Amino acid sequence: MRIDVLTIFPQMFDVPFSFGIFKRAIDRNLVKINVHNIRDYTHDKHHTVDDYPYGGGPGMVLKPGPVFDAVAAVQDQIVKESGGVEPPVILLTPQGRLFNQQIATELSGHSHLVLICGHYEGIDERVVEHLVTDEISIGDYVLTGGELPALVVIDAVLRLLPGVLGSEDSAQEDSHVHGLLEYPQYTRPADFQGWPVPEVLLSGNHAQIARWRREQIVRRTLERRPDLINSAELGREEKEMVKQMTASNKAKSSLNKEPEK
Ligand code: ADE
Repeated sequence: MRIDVLTIFPQMFDVPFSFGIFKRAIDRNLVKINVHNIRDYTHDKHHTVDDYPYGGGPGMVLKPGPVFDAVAAVQDQIVKESGGVEPPVILLTPQGRLFNQQIATELSGHSHLVLICGHYEGIDERVVEHLVTDEISIGDYVLTGGELPALVVIDAVLRLLPGVLGSEDSAQEDSHVHGLLEYPQYTRPADFQGWPVPEVLLSGNHAQIARWRREQIVRRTLERRPDLINSAELGREEKEMVKQMTASNKAKSSLNKEPEK
């Protein structure tokens, strides 16, 4: 995969790409990440990337010219390299579609991605209307720029690429892959400060362990993210667990209710 990032703060990417899984994926040529400084595509003496908003108001707006020129240069290279495939051009913005595991999987299927990091009060709307093919938000909060969101997206996408994680299975078993949360994990010691590891995990009975884990997945998701249950891919056994747990929760909560006067 090739990822081109357009930013006014290219140095923000130096450290994250120099460590751990990012670095290993880059060193193994599983991904090529090019970070471009939007400022390099300005043509005035002061290398201006922003300007006052028409109509007034606070803050500055990213000018369209340098962003269009930067994307054109990158797209030229990509189209040549890939024999005509046009990559998605993604703007990181709080106004985009909300990023999730499904979108990460979708993006991991592309051979190239172009990510534009927005800034200031925003970016000239003509970039959104005529250049960008997708807008992504990493959550309902406002950050100072699109650099951290771009890193979040890159991290979630990279770890899905074959060979990036130690074992292919590790991404398969993740939270959210099947639309549910993850079961709890334990490692040695079996007793830590008087808190024991659940006995079933020490039993060596693989069928029982698998059943316990499925139960934990359903229980946690129901407790912490009930909104995920309806859209998750549930098997017959999991559906039965949801039914039983919901019924037993209802029974408990009606026991706890104050008697009516
Ligand atoms: N830029 C600023 N805030 C953002 C957010 N929540 N998601 C994506 N890009 C952003």
